[in-house]
Amino acid sequence: MNEKIINPTWSAVDGYIVEQLLPKDAVLDAVLEANKAGGLPAIDVSPTQGKLLHMFAKMVGARRILEIGTLGGYSTIWMARALPEDGRLITLECEPHHAEVAKANIASAGLEAVVDIRVGAALDILPKLAAEANTQSQPFDLIFIDADKPNNANYLEWAMKLSRPGTVIVCDNVIRNGAVIDGETSDAKVHGSRAAFEFQGSHPKLTATALQTVGSKGYDGFTIAIVE
Ligand code: SAH
Ligand code: DHB
Ligand code: MG
Repeated sequence: MNEKIINPTWSAVDGYIVEQLLPKDAVLDAVLEANKAGGLPAIDVSPTQGKLLHMFAKMVGARRILEIGTLGGYSTIWMARALPEDGRLITLECEPHHAEVAKANIASAGLEAVVDIRVGAALDILPKLAAEANTQSQPFDLIFIDADKPNNANYLEWAMKLSRPGTVIVCDNVIRNGAVIDGETSDAKVHGSRAAFEFQGSHPKLTATALQTVGSKGYDGFTIAIVE
């Protein structure tokens, strides 16, 4: 299991959805171009997933968003666009080059006043973030976990500390071409997914589900949880 499954229909249908429901967006197109030019891997959320994150932010009336794993800022921009003018999105990225590309992309999107990129290993930054007065007085409303998959359960633990009842937590790439059901695998990313499921399934303050997705990124999926 965990071989990439390619299906041309999934991509074609994603194309149809984009054509029908996602207006042309020169800024987001330029972000993907800049990522490519900068040599970043094309592992951003898909456009339909980006729009879903944007809509989650609107649904929860988000004023503060936390993202773990910025890459070039594609998902960052989708979510930050849902914030009010005085909102804040803090995004954590350990690769300085990714953060540089993201910074330029976020500036092109006119979102530099709203987005705060912190460069470093997320597990080093999260304790500092938790100690900040802003975080203590205003927990995050939406948390998107999309970095190194073996740390998913550690990130979920921090997410609980940085949240309030009603906070929504989304964890990307948890289905892994179906390999999530293989508890015997040697793939540390799959174990990271399974740890995320176990954490969310057993935490008394989380109501969680997961959706399998197919589309232009192949076969994967995400968990979505609400803090009680
Ligand atoms: N959310 C992005 C994609 C993120 S890809 C989007 O959809 O557009 C995952 C990112 O997490 C990569 O840029 C990688 O460098 C970063 N990352 C990996 N391990 C990390 C860690 N320990 N701390 C912070 N960032 C990390
Ligand atoms: C990978 C990471 C992601 O966040 C993603 O959405 C797809 C792939 C990866 O590390 O391969
Ligand atoms: Mg991802």
